Amino acid sequence: GGAGHVEDYDFSFEGPFGTYDRNQLQRGLQIYTEVCAACHGLKLVPIRTLSDEGGPQMPEDQVRAYAADNFSVYDPELDEDRPAKPVDHFPENNNAGAPDLSMMAKARAGFHGPYGLGLNQLFKGMGGAEYIASLLAGYTGETKEEAGTTFYENTAFPGGWISMAPPLSDEQVEFADGHANDVEAMSQDVAAFLMWTAEPKMMARKQAGFVGVLFLTLLSVMLYLTNKRLWAPHK
Ligand code: HEM
Repeated sequence: GGAGHVEDYDFSFEGPFGTYDRNQLQRGLQIYTEVCAACHGLKLVPIRTLSDEGGPQMPEDQVRAYAADNFSVYDPELDEDRPAKPVDHFPENNNAGAPDLSMMAKARAGFHGPYGLGLNQLFKGMGGAEYIASLLAGYTGETKEEAGTTFYENTAFPGGWISMAPPLSDEQVEFADGHANDVEAMSQDVAAFLMWTAEPKMMARKQAGFVGVLFLTLLSVMLYLTNKRLWAPHK
């Protein structure tokens, strides 16, 4: 218990070879769409990226239908709203005073210290997704009123009281494949989705890093052998 408690969940994308779980990202998208989008925008995320490699990887026709069915955007040429297209970004949403979630998984850290050294981050990762999952699953059920606003007690939120009402409840979202839909499971699914929106190229980055390390290792071996050979006559 206690405010600021973040659970160290095991996400599929952790570690040097971790990858996003495509099905989990699709469930997270569904939760975002059916629940979070009522208050939160994702204005930095182009809808078309839902079909990108390393992401939810939805077929392009499905993305087109998803955009048109769920969002409308203002078109300056038509001077009116039209159904969203894959080229559009997810809309922003300022109605409820809720922050945009595009980069939230990188704007928050789940782990700190000890003593500001960041050692917990070295061993456990930054913990942005863990923070979001812990936040969503961290409501105690206690509320208080302050200056006409209701605050909800939350074990992950710094300070312990947040103005966001518990957004998720058990079985609120139905998944086509019948996947678990309790608060705990859905919190992790939507947190994974928000990790992807914040870092859509994580897979490519890890792969490039690995190729880089491999290349430098080979280069070192070859330079070592070359060096030996060059100096061999002088021994
Ligand atoms: C804040 C996620 C649904 C209203 C936040 C924060 C996150 C978040 C990560 C930032 C917390 C922080 O500052 O550290 C989500 C997710 C949702 C969801 C993943 C869906 C599962 C909603 C809904 C509403 C809402 C439906 C409105 C009814 C707010 C408000 C804040 C907030 C007002 C600011 C709270 C404060 O700073 O006290 N949300 N949210 N959220 N959210 Fe949500």
